[in-house]
Amino acid sequence: MSINWFPGHMAKARREVEENLKKVDVVIEILDARIPNSSHNPMMDEITKHKPRVVVLNKVDMADPKATDRWLSKFKSEGKYPVALDGRHNQIIKKIEPLAVKATAEDFNRMEEKGIRRRAIRAMIIGIPNVGKSTVINNIARKKGAKTGNTPGVTKQQQWIKAGQQMELLDTPGILWPKFEDEATGKKLALTGAIKDTVVPLDEVAIFGMQHLLEWDPERFNAFYNISASQDDDIVTVFDAIGKSRGMKSSGNEINYEAVTNRVIHDIRNGKIGRYTFDKVDAQ
Ligand code: G4P
Repeated sequence: MSINWFPGHMAKARREVEENLKKVDVVIEILDARIPNSSHNPMMDEITKHKPRVVVLNKVDMADPKATDRWLSKFKSEGKYPVALDGRHNQIIKKIEPLAVKATAEDFNRMEEKGIRRRAIRAMIIGIPNVGKSTVINNIARKKGAKTGNTPGVTKQQQWIKAGQQMELLDTPGILWPKFEDEATGKKLALTGAIKDTVVPLDEVAIFGMQHLLEWDPERFNAFYNISASQDDDIVTVFDAIGKSRGMKSSGNEINYEAVTNRVIHDIRNGKIGRYTFDKVDAQ
């Protein structure tokens, strides 16, 4: 499985993000808390260079709380300033701003020592599509429903918005493309809705999700679909069981595999079955 990002587009997107980074003191990277590794573009580390980084594990309401704690510790140990939150909640700025203050303290102290008058901390949000960048920005700006786009690069016509007491935030995010290092990464991105459904075959995405749940949380998976499947079962029998239990049959009384596939992806993607983190800290 592969996805072809045009090298020209990638270079342009990168240049745009780099250009904007010059204007800010701190980068706020938004990741999906369910896939903190797969939703991170490694180029981010190169692009942001020595800028301090606040890492927002967004969509925490759908991630496994214990795994989130482990990811927070990992990011802290790397010298980043992480926080886990639900970007749709009010007051997220109260969680983000203190971290931006801490992350930039050294730089601002240095400026003050040189006699430079203190100014607002300038920040920029960066992330791959669908991790919640618009949600977070609109929430901070108290705007409703403005979608900031999904084309890698930086959306034009930027403005600074007041964010909390000491910070200004660029109202348009830097958008990076997702990385496709291996098949599992692609499936995780699809399962969480970070990439469009057409990029990875949907049946493979559903199978990946089912296998993950059968390994990590079989009781809840079985209870949710009212079936009794196990990790060792042939995956077709799991499809059959769900199809039967949910009455997903086509005209000839055959199981409608497409319907089961879509159902399972929808249920996992939207956190209907439970809270899951598909990237494990230890596996990095
Ligand atoms: P982006 O700018 O990074 O591309 O992402 P965006 O804010 O558009 O968010 C993508 C979807 O994720 C939106 O759903 C948004 O409501 C949802 N979302 C953002 N933050 C959170 C969160 O913390 N928890 C949960 N549960 N959902 C969150 P949507 O409007 O339904 O769009 P879509 O699902 O149709 O793409």
